[in-house]
This record gives sequence, structure tokens and C-alpha cells, in this order.
Amino acid sequence: MIEFYRVSKEYGGRRVLRNVTFQVGKGEFVFLTGPSGAGKTTLLRLLFRAEQPSEGQILVNGMNVAAMPVRRVPELRRSMGIVFQDYKLLPTRTVFENVSFVLKFLGVPLAERRRRAYQVLRLVELHHRVNALPEELSGGEQQRVALARALINEPALLVADEPTGNLDHRLAADVMRLFASINVKGTTVVVATHDVALIKEVGRRCLTLSRGSVLEGLVEPELPPQAAWREGLREVLRDGAREEAREERAPRPPHRPPAGPGPERGGDDGGGAG
Ligand SMILES: Nc1ncnc2c1ncn2[C@@H]1O[C@H](COP(=O)(O)OP(=O)(O)OP(=O)(O)O)[C@@H](O)[C@H]1O
Ligand SMILES: [Mg+2]
Repeated sequence: MIEFYRVSKEYGGRRVLRNVTFQVGKGEFVFLTGPSGAGKTTLLRLLFRAEQPSEGQILVNGMNVAAMPVRRVPELRRSMGIVFQDYKLLPTRTVFENVSFVLKFLGVPLAERRRRAYQVLRLVELHHRVNALPEELSGGEQQRVALARALINEPALLVADEPTGNLDHRLAADVMRLFASINVKGTTVVVATHDVALIKEVGRRCLTLSRGSVLEGLVEPELPPQAAWREGLREVLRDGAREEAREERAPRPPHRPPAGPGPERGGDDGGGAG
């Protein structure tokens, strides 16, 4: 799905990535980590041709990213769901419009856009905010809108840059579970994060950026143990399948509050977006 071969990236003679080679197979779930400034965002931006490498070759889904003509770049980007570190929501558009923008661009009729927007917004527990503007949402809520937008076109590859940076721990864990469930359904997932605690909880293949090079690693899950994690994931998938089946039979009542800790969740302060 992704192949980096001897990729280097320099900004004004300063080398951020040097001779980076790695592969991510179809259907894999990989974390990209490393300290602030290590080059995580730069590496992800190379994937969707927001940057060009100084040297080396990049293949994404069979496409030669650095060498492809500019007119094919939209096709590359449409095959991916991208969650940006600074969200990049359109400030004058509602949550619904932000999330379904790409579908409108692709000529999908309104009823279908509404249906799919509702589906992905429900995944991130924001289906009750379809008409809100980004400025009316907390930082964590905006982050979840960005996530819903990345998922709406059922991408083969999901790339997320610090998708839990603005979430409290419960929501961060939920988002990771969401990624895992999307991954189980076949989507390749690459998540950049410096939240090592979260990586340890999930336990996955981990590419660590250090001094411009990529180090391979496999993080064994600490807490909860993998069995418990898998069980949790199974539960999520079961619930999802059940709800989907129920929805197909009858329209859902407006909103069922999620099980678990009380109403005082979502205490993210909304500050520091971007
Ligand atoms: N357009 C640019 N021009 C010059 N230097 C840049 C540019 N973009 C990034 N850099 C530099 O490249 C290095 C890596 O930046 P990058 O944003 O990829 O780091 P990061 O690992 O994503 O950090 P963070 O965890 O803080 O998001 C930094 O030193 C940054 O200053
Ligand atoms: Mg970054």
C-alpha cells in the first residue's frame, strides 16, 4: 500500500528525513511516532503530495507519488482519508457541509450525502451537531469532525496526523478503537502521534522517527492486555453491526446516550487548535 525507498527531505539545506525506507502493507495499522519536530507531518505530507521529496521514491496504492503529473494528484488524494493536525475545517460551513464536501464534489445526491454524513458523524458521536459551525465546537469536537470527513468516502488508506491531540483520554481511546474497527474492515491506517501511552495501550507496529531516520518497532500492548483489547474491539464491531441492522429495519430514535461514564465527559478545553 505504501512504499518509501531511500526518501530524503530537505528544507533549505536542512535535512528533516534522510534515506528513509519502509513499507506498509495493505490492511496494516501502523503508528508513526517521534518527538516534536522529528518529521512526522512532513512524512505524511509526502504521501499525498503536499510536499515533494528531495530524493527517493514513494509509492502509494500503486501510484508513483513524486513522479505523477499534477492532474492525477486529486485522484491520489480521493483514495485517501486525511486527518490534518490542524483540522482544516471550512470556517463558514456547517459540520454537515464540511463532512460531506467531497461527496458533493463527486456529484453524490443530497439524500445520500445526508445519510452518509449521519453515519460517520454517529461514529464520532457528533450526529446531533450537523448544523453547527466549526467555531461553535470545542477543539476535540472539531477534531472529530475532521475525522468524520476523512472517513466519509470509505478510503482505502486513512492517514491521521495527531488525531487525538485535543481529546481527553476516554475520547482518545475511543478514537483509537474507531481506527482499529475501520482497520479490521480492510482500511490501511497510518496514525502519527507522540502519545506513546496511547500506542502502548493499543499495541501495534510502530515506526519511530529519530534524527531523520525511521526505526522499526513493535509495541507490545501494556494495559489493557491484548486479549481485553481484542474483546473490546469485538464488542464495538458487534454493537456497530447490530445498530446497522437495526437502522436498516427502522429509523432510529433521535439520540441514545452512550453507555459508560456520566455526562461530564467532553471536558476538552478547545484551546490550542492548530
Ligand atoms: N515548510 C517548511 N519549511 C521549512 N522547514 C520546515 C517546513 N515544514 C517543516 N519544517 C521543519 O521540518 C521539521 C519537521 O517538522 P514536522 O512538522 O514534520 O515535525 P513533526 O514530527 O510533525 O512535529 P510535531 O510533533 O510538533 O507535529 C521541523 O524542524 C520543521 O521546522
Ligand atoms: Mg506534526
